[in-house]
Amino acid sequence: MTRRALRGRLVWFRDDPAIAGAAALVDIADGLLVIEAERIAAVGPATDLLEPDLEVTHYPNALILPGLIDAHIHYPQTQVIGSYGTQLLDWLQSYTFPAERRFADPAHCARTAGFFLDELLRHGTTTAVAYASVHPGSVDALCAEALARTMRLITGKVMMDEGPEGLRDTAQSGYDDSQALIARWHGQGRIGYAVTPRFAVTSSAAQLEAAGALLREHPDCWLQTHLAENHAEIAEVARRFPEASSYTDVYDRFGLLGPRSILGHCLHLAEDEMARLAATGSVACFCPTSNLFIGSGLFDLARLTDRPDPVRIALATDVGGGTSYSMLQTAAEAYKVLQLQNQSWPALDAFHTMTRGNALALGLAHEIGTLEPGSHADVTVLDLAPTPAIAHRLEAIDRSDLPALLFALMTIGDDRAIRATWVAGKKLHERNG
Ligand code: GUN
Ligand code: ZN
Repeated sequence: MTRRALRGRLVWFRDDPAIAGAAALVDIADGLLVIEAERIAAVGPATDLLEPDLEVTHYPNALILPGLIDAHIHYPQTQVIGSYGTQLLDWLQSYTFPAERRFADPAHCARTAGFFLDELLRHGTTTAVAYASVHPGSVDALCAEALARTMRLITGKVMMDEGPEGLRDTAQSGYDDSQALIARWHGQGRIGYAVTPRFAVTSSAAQLEAAGALLREHPDCWLQTHLAENHAEIAEVARRFPEASSYTDVYDRFGLLGPRSILGHCLHLAEDEMARLAATGSVACFCPTSNLFIGSGLFDLARLTDRPDPVRIALATDVGGGTSYSMLQTAAEAYKVLQLQNQSWPALDAFHTMTRGNALALGLAHEIGTLEPGSHADVTVLDLAPTPAIAHRLEAIDRSDLPALLFALMTIGDDRAIRATWVAGKKLHERNG
């Protein structure tokens, strides 16, 4: 069996720093991460673990972290990013739906899927929870590309039987296609399936019922959808589902809440909605660059988490409403969104969220988000001198002050700060120059 190792400063979390403080952090100045096949076999000080004949890749002046995890992103929106001037419902009509119609073409799916996954890797992201389009072929293309890269991916065909012309399925076809995709892809390699009703604006009651049935039949699949992103959206959901007491209640009635449910945005929730999210263990997904760019609102982290029954949280780019593939940039924008509300977000919390926190949110902390032996060898190497400006800034920070280093890196770092990305023990990205 091939054994190889990465050597350098190893940094990861064993616990949540918001609860356990600095004791949550593991920081090994000259560490060795020993990889056997796809997994981490051993980790510790290099002096303890070096052995003859081990092929060692050395990363000086860098931080070796678990691969970053993006909990909500749309792969058919790579050509939607940076579209000017509209808020959610108009943005969908003007830019997103036209772009997603092109995914009826398998060649377009294949080309975009490969580009998308390589772009994630270039940004240090090794796992994504990604929406495909309404077309089953869009899932096939993305899964095939993820399989070829041994990437951990959660994806699903968007269900939208009341969507616009040319992008509609039906309650029955959405159910049948999802069943077939689950049979084909869920558990293949490192791929998991997410039942994906787009949101309550574009699905009928019959389709949400079908989504609930899929989840009951496949309890180890995930669910992803959007919740309470924009006021016009919320009003439209209230109009469409007058019997429900809230937007959250619409999903609740159809059995769509639960510990494997990842709900994008969650910006405008009433108290009873947060209580239901907490009681069901559902995950509220913070997408700061998207929320700012589409003008949707400010994610109120304190309101969701400083309560006796905290809501589980994840962090995500939401490309193409979001404006960057970089989880570093996403964390920087999250920090600013929280600053605007007088809330703090220390760098250790941010890096925990991008790694172990998002892994916990997906129920995958035994497998990703950590450098513990037994987990998959998904690794992101952050360069401590990727640009003149960052090198100059970091010169003024003591190397022992890891929170300060991480905070500066997330604030001014981006894809240029990713020296290398490893997936399942293989180097899939290395920055040139
Ligand atoms: N709500 C429904 N669909 C979408 C989407 O594609 N992006 C965002 N940001 N919100 C949505
Ligand atoms: Zn989204």
